[in-house]
Amino acid sequence: MDLNNKRIIVTGAASGIGRAIAVALASRGAAVVATDVRAPHDTLAAIEAVGGRGIALAADVTDPVQTDAMAAQCVERLGGIEGLVNNAGIYSTIVPRPFEQIDLDEWRKLFEVNVFGLARCCQAVVPHMRAAGGGRIVNIISGVPFKGIPFMLHYVASKGAVLGMTRSLAKELGPANILVNGVAPGFTLSDGVMHNPVQLEKLREISRNARSLARDQVADDVVGAVGFFMSAGADFITGQTLLVDGGSHFN
Ligand SMILES: NC(=O)c1ccc[n+]([C@@H]2O[C@H](COP(=O)([O-])OP(=O)(O)OC[C@H]3O[C@@H](n4cnc5c(N)ncnc54)[C@H](O)[C@@H]3O)[C@@H](O)[C@H]2O)c1
Repeated sequence: MDLNNKRIIVTGAASGIGRAIAVALASRGAAVVATDVRAPHDTLAAIEAVGGRGIALAADVTDPVQTDAMAAQCVERLGGIEGLVNNAGIYSTIVPRPFEQIDLDEWRKLFEVNVFGLARCCQAVVPHMRAAGGGRIVNIISGVPFKGIPFMLHYVASKGAVLGMTRSLAKELGPANILVNGVAPGFTLSDGVMHNPVQLEKLREISRNARSLARDQVADDVVGAVGFFMSAGADFITGQTLLVDGGSHFN
């Protein structure tokens, strides 16, 4: 999986799945722009520790000025943008509960990041990709819209939206040679999840037992699928979402 000569932006790269993706793409040769609400200098250090290169940038995906600057910085400092990984999201701070107890303000905050933020990042990079003759977008979705899990209705709705956006964007951007795919992890013991005792208690064992490969899922389990969608091997694949969940849900 050769990602040499690719310049790839990873959002939400300060911790967990995003950080693992940023380091893995860099270790396969990509120059990586690691972004998060605060510049993820630790992730950049981890990239450099595996012999990779990149930059660390602050970019809040809910702010169009910052997402436009993120894309501009990638072009100015690295010379172009071949890829975007939309990983930033609100997940690990969610406390599962009945939908009647989730107020609309929380729905709005979550959609602002998981759905509108993702759309803004696409709007920021696509003009650069069009001008360069193509590109790749990988959206980090989730197994939850496939399974319809209870007690986080706003989150399931947000990831269902991204699943549909992945398909529609693939059709809309195909003529510009911009490929759009999704990776849908199962319950993953990311840094954030490890600090959420309610999620761990409610979801860890039940998720493990539902898998064909009955073990915990970790952030590094997700990175291979992202690298594949960024690589030459996926040149004729777009609009697809690959479940990476140890064989829990079959799509
Ligand atoms: N952990 C899981 O079980 C799991 C399973 C399936 C999908 N996912 C998805 O994978 C992605 C990463 O999950 P995680 O568990 O590592 O998440 P996390 O909640 O621990 O971390 C997400 C990252 O996004 C960043 N972020 C939040 N709001 C942001 C904003 N406005 N702008 C920029 N960055 C922002 C956070 O700072 C954090 O570094 C999320 O999209 C999540 O929905 C997670």
